[in-house]
Amino acid sequence: MPKICVGRDDEDQEEHGLDGTGMIGKHLVGEGPEAHTANPVYMDLARPHVMGIFGKRGTGKSYSMGTIAEELYDSDISDNLSTVIIDSMGVYWSMKRPNDRGAGILDKWGFKPQAYDTTIYIPAGKTEEFTKKEIPYDETFTINPGELTSEEWRMALNIDNDSEMSILLDKTISKLKDTAGNDYRLEHILKGIKKFDFDQGAVRGLENRLENAEDWGIFGKDSSLEKFTERSEMSIIDMSVFGEMSGGWSIRSLVVALLSKRILRERMDARRMEEIDEMQGLNQNEMPITWMLIDEAHQFIPDEGETPATKPLLRWVKIGREPGVSLALATQQPAKLNANALSQCDLILSHRLTAQQDIEALGEIMQTYVRKDLKHYIEALPDEVGTGIILDDNSERIFPIKMRPRKSWHAGGTPDAYED
Ligand SMILES: Nc1ncnc2c1ncn2[C@@H]1O[C@H](COP(=O)(O)OP(=O)(O)OP(=O)(O)O)[C@@H](O)[C@H]1O
Ligand SMILES: [Mg+2]
Repeated sequence: MPKICVGRDDEDQEEHGLDGTGMIGKHLVGEGPEAHTANPVYMDLARPHVMGIFGKRGTGKSYSMGTIAEELYDSDISDNLSTVIIDSMGVYWSMKRPNDRGAGILDKWGFKPQAYDTTIYIPAGKTEEFTKKEIPYDETFTINPGELTSEEWRMALNIDNDSEMSILLDKTISKLKDTAGNDYRLEHILKGIKKFDFDQGAVRGLENRLENAEDWGIFGKDSSLEKFTERSEMSIIDMSVFGEMSGGWSIRSLVVALLSKRILRERMDARRMEEIDEMQGLNQNEMPITWMLIDEAHQFIPDEGETPATKPLLRWVKIGREPGVSLALATQQPAKLNANALSQCDLILSHRLTAQQDIEALGEIMQTYVRKDLKHYIEALPDEVGTGIILDDNSERIFPIKMRPRKSWHAGGTPDAYED
């Protein structure tokens, strides 16, 4: 049976076979209700990728992203990988539980329900909320305010670029950086803004916003972000508590911004060491290749406007191949995702899409080999969750797919109003 392996070129496939891949689903053959599953579809996990996961509401994006996380964790190369899931809606904590309700269907696929030993991190100042809602977590994280640039503050606090507040913020941060490096806290910024002879309205406004930032529960003396990139770990950063907060997405973006900057920096350093080792005939990864999986990605790297995470993520996308960082971006509408990020995707899993502009956005990024067939492939998908098409820029091929059932529990299920 010919093996389908997406994201892997012929050379790697010849040398490594299916080592370092994950089985994500099965090839769908036939159209509409006639479609049936055939060969398994494997996905390369060993090389850096930028993957887009798209589809209308409730078509299986979050579910599929969980499947990829499971494969990364179970992979034969998991020792050299680490996975960070940016969980904005709080749907991944349930990976700790086996998918017992899916035992029957899993059996048909040759799998068993399985619990995953993930580490769930929540903002240090938000433990009470999680305890109250009885959502499990393992650890807390903080970020050091001293690591933020004034531009990042400005975006996070929603301050206009050339406003008085922005100028005051800039002055305060550069003064603090001059005197204390990165070693200052929110209270020092609050004190700092009063030391300048500035319009009282601006001082008051900035003070208010910074005081609000204290309630985000993410600031601490140190950044504990490095914990997220341990070998063979799956870290889930649960930021669902910011759900209802005004500016909730800016806060999440700030965390993603710092995290992605730090991971990239560390991977670049590690890569240098690895090259030296390779020259000496040693072959060991200094730091695991990191996969960051971002659900609701358009909130972090939107088509219009900018968030604190936009630039750092674009850097991942552009130069990530060399240091070895991979990104999976899930969103309902590819057309709402930053066009530069979209154009760098080398792997796309698209569940059902109907909006013409989204289908066009997909078509535009893929080479001409699929453009004309794309609509046809999408229309031919059976009306079933978990089905989609995979566009593989590495092999320049397109495959209809049925994603495999999850081994762990998926908490993002669509609620219904039936009383059972
Ligand atoms: N491959 C699959 N096999 C079986 N069920 C699936 C599969 N994919 C998704 N589902 C089911 O479909 C429903 C919706 O899935 P999911 O939560 O992943 O949607 P989504 O695309 O992320 O939606 P939203 O846009 O609202 O975030 C869930 O109940 C999930 O259990
Ligand atoms: Mg979802």
